[in-house]
Amino acid sequence: MSKSAATTVRFDPAGRLKGTIVPPPDKSISHRAAMLGAMASEPVVIRNYLEAADTTSTLNAMVRLGALVERRPDEVVIRGTGLREAGEVDGVIDVGNAGTLMRLLPGWLAGQKDRTYTLDGDSSIRKRPVDRIAVPLREMGASIEATDDRYPPFSITGARLRAIDYTLPVASAQVKSCVLFAGLVADGTTIVREPVPSRDHTERMLAIAGVSLRREGNAISLTNADELVLDELTVPGDPSSAAFAIAAGVLVPKSRLLVKGSGANWTRTGFVKIVQRMGGVVLGELEDPQGDGPVSPGEPITDLDVAHGPLVGTVVEPHEVPLAIDELPLVALLGCFAEGETVVRGAQELRFKESDRIALVVEGLRGLGAEIEATDDGFVVTGTGGLRGGTIHSHGDHRLAMLGAVAGLASDEGVEVVGMDAAAVSYPTFTEDFTALLRR
Ligand code: S3P
Repeated sequence: MSKSAATTVRFDPAGRLKGTIVPPPDKSISHRAAMLGAMASEPVVIRNYLEAADTTSTLNAMVRLGALVERRPDEVVIRGTGLREAGEVDGVIDVGNAGTLMRLLPGWLAGQKDRTYTLDGDSSIRKRPVDRIAVPLREMGASIEATDDRYPPFSITGARLRAIDYTLPVASAQVKSCVLFAGLVADGTTIVREPVPSRDHTERMLAIAGVSLRREGNAISLTNADELVLDELTVPGDPSSAAFAIAAGVLVPKSRLLVKGSGANWTRTGFVKIVQRMGGVVLGELEDPQGDGPVSPGEPITDLDVAHGPLVGTVVEPHEVPLAIDELPLVALLGCFAEGETVVRGAQELRFKESDRIALVVEGLRGLGAEIEATDDGFVVTGTGGLRGGTIHSHGDHRLAMLGAVAGLASDEGVEVVGMDAAAVSYPTFTEDFTALLRR
């Protein structure tokens, strides 16, 4: 997001928030649906596809790779190229701000024998490491050349791939998915081992597409496929976007919200569980963690009732981090209002997101009056029962922009968010949706 395009929006303290909010379609699932649609042999209809900057980058990239993308009012239809026939691309594939596109797509491209693809994106993407995908893809036989061997722009030359048994150094659904995509066309059975579970949308969608896939403990194994057949997919509401409404409903006095149609996949409900543990009123049915065996296809959804109430501090442990990774900035905000201390540990990955979300959450919330300290792998917040308000900069990071907005609604004096336009990356209707809750 360029600085000149940055817009400043003021969020005044809200009297109360009331009504129903439907979170936008899930970003992670939309990215995957578009990519798998492009890999499929038959047309795929995607209902409730997220129309936002990141997921538009993905559709554009699929078109560059030879897929036909038809955008209808309520659905997107993708006519793919087949798993092994991605088209040749002249010049660079622009991933914009989309880290998920940048890290997943190379898994597919790595299997396109003797073809070279170059990926690049905006200034934030150029700071995000790709060595974490280069290591396993090279082991499978692809060639990767990256700037300083670590950053975009980078290029991938495809090869006939061999299956690997790969242990992820950190739990990352992006890296896991990248290796699984490559495994679709590799000789043999690919195994990915994660230190702790991370979001499993790729596995569920591949299961729908007929791929043989199993989870045993924290290991996922997949055998290559001749083709993917998906037919149709419906994207649930995004729990990471719903989290802003949940936080606002819990923090703003007298609020009562219904969050409708949010994804309830257990690998994404870590935030709701943390809020519940802090004493926040969030009621709804969440999926139970799944055990070993064939990966179950499909994504559960839920409605959540949210009400204002007092909070107590909590400790977020490392194994919970991947299940709430994008919502941890909101945990810091809740911590400001909670009694006692709120600690997040084992979240060093936050430093490699759209911004360094440890440094910028601490800087941003401190500027609003919070007592918060950064640690190497998280933060420690001392609750003061509220937040004064002031000005916060999104630094082009969509989740920081929306964090500032929710902070403003719950603050004493309001918050001015510089760079609110960044929200368009995942939640283009954020300001309208929240304004509607105020007007009731
Ligand atoms: C995502 C995985 C997470 C998350 C990101 C989306 C995905 O990243 O932070 O916003 O769609 O797979 P990591 O897998 O790098 O933790």
